Amino acid sequence: MPRVLQLAAEIYPLVKTGGLADVVAALPPALVRAGADVRLLLPGLPAIAEALLQPDTVGEIGPAFGAARITLRLGRLPGSPVLAYVVDAPYLYRRGGGPYQDDRGADWPDNLQRFALLGWLGTHLAAGELDPGWTPDVVHAHDWHAAMACAYMRAHPATRATSVFTVHNLAYQGLFSPGDFGALALPPHYMSPEGLEFHGQLSFMKAGLKFADRISTVSPTYAREIATPEFGCGLDGVIRARQSDVSGILNGVDRDVWSPESDPGLASRYSAERPQGKRECKAALQQEMALPPDAGAPLLAVVSRLSGQKGLDLVLGVLPALLRLGAQLVVVGTGEPALEAALRDAARAEPLRVAVRLVYDEALAHRVIAGADAILVPSRFEPCGLTQMYGLRYGTLPLVRSVGGLADTVVDASAANLRNGTGTGFVFNDATPAALEQAVERLVALYHRPSDWQQAMRRAMAETFSWDQAAVQYMALYRGAMTANR
Ligand code: ADP
Ligand code: GLC
Repeated sequence: MPRVLQLAAEIYPLVKTGGLADVVAALPPALVRAGADVRLLLPGLPAIAEALLQPDTVGEIGPAFGAARITLRLGRLPGSPVLAYVVDAPYLYRRGGGPYQDDRGADWPDNLQRFALLGWLGTHLAAGELDPGWTPDVVHAHDWHAAMACAYMRAHPATRATSVFTVHNLAYQGLFSPGDFGALALPPHYMSPEGLEFHGQLSFMKAGLKFADRISTVSPTYAREIATPEFGCGLDGVIRARQSDVSGILNGVDRDVWSPESDPGLASRYSAERPQGKRECKAALQQEMALPPDAGAPLLAVVSRLSGQKGLDLVLGVLPALLRLGAQLVVVGTGEPALEAALRDAARAEPLRVAVRLVYDEALAHRVIAGADAILVPSRFEPCGLTQMYGLRYGTLPLVRSVGGLADTVVDASAANLRNGTGTGFVFNDATPAALEQAVERLVALYHRPSDWQQAMRRAMAETFSWDQAAVQYMALYRGAMTANR
């Protein structure tokens, strides 16, 4: 039974800025079901430190990374079957704001120390120096926040464990000033193009890409895309050089959280066999959003971070077409001020057709995904994307751009695919309002053919996207890396 330590900065529902948190909550239990002995290592951000149940002190660590006192505790997070090591370092982690940024959206100035510490402790755990009772065979680091573990493990002679690095989003790289290299306490040659140096800066992402024994990303298509200049964010060369170690494993859907038949927050629960409840969810959503209670108007939704990645400028670009086609639009999101302002203006101009909530609200996200007829995810790039999969589970047909995990999860309801019974949504290629508009037109046309629409809904709801399947693939990845490491 391989012992696997999962390193990450966020975990649903305690600390979440995006899909990473959902993955970190759902993957470890699935790995346990697949036969692994799994523990988590998480930073003691206030919500995490306060939630830890029956914490045992594993070790007091002397001053490091500017923190005078660091305590490693082991306990369980509510609802989780997996033990978690939590790094209690009040000076670095106990503060308001978000995990990476303050309340005004500025990166914390000590992020280098905050996230180097996480990787450094993962390494000392792997070397058997912090908890001699449990030494992992595999350290699995998620995104740049945990990537330094891969460099520290390479530099630490006593670590026998294998490192696996998962890229959830190559666009967020953890870049710092080269002058801060000294704070990492790594041998000097690590600050070179063969190491962490990236165009004169210091890159945590590169620590993962260079030094992990295996690299994975969250969909097969994104695994291929990041080896190209278009999607490689300047790191495609580094990725190409590691091609034989790179793979893509599609994320799953946590059915305990996202299932219309048991979702406690819905106006009415429903399933593919008993879809009537979805109509009530739509009516409730229209009422909540102060939209006319028109059952026949296609209700389109967006639930998203409002960042350039997500292609919401394209949605704004097709608003006139949406209105012309008689659709209603609900947007729930937070992010870039310019996008927030543009969306607020759109809702003000068309209050009976467009409703916008600039909030981060998990329960609202469920009501919107259940109540809408379709969910729009027109991303410029998308490593995996979870909301289109949630849409499929809820019979809310996704309209997506053909990139990354979106391309791997949605089958276009083209005439041919409808005939052969495979279409589950709508897929378009070019990141232009014209291409999105065409896809919206096809969506609305299908919506007005209820029997075809309902068939597509049934197919969508039958998709599994199981975490158990993903866990089996991660287990194979771990075993391959462990064997190669011997
Ligand atoms: P990303 O991680 O790039 O933001 P994903 O689709 O993988 O994209 O995951 C986004 C997650 O965040 C989903 O669980 C989605 O429901 C949630 N989410 C995004 N914006 C909001 C919001 N404003 N309110 C509630 N949940 C949101
Ligand atoms: C990132 C990606 C998203 C992915 C999520 C979880 O935030 O942007 O596509 O679904 O990580 O892996």
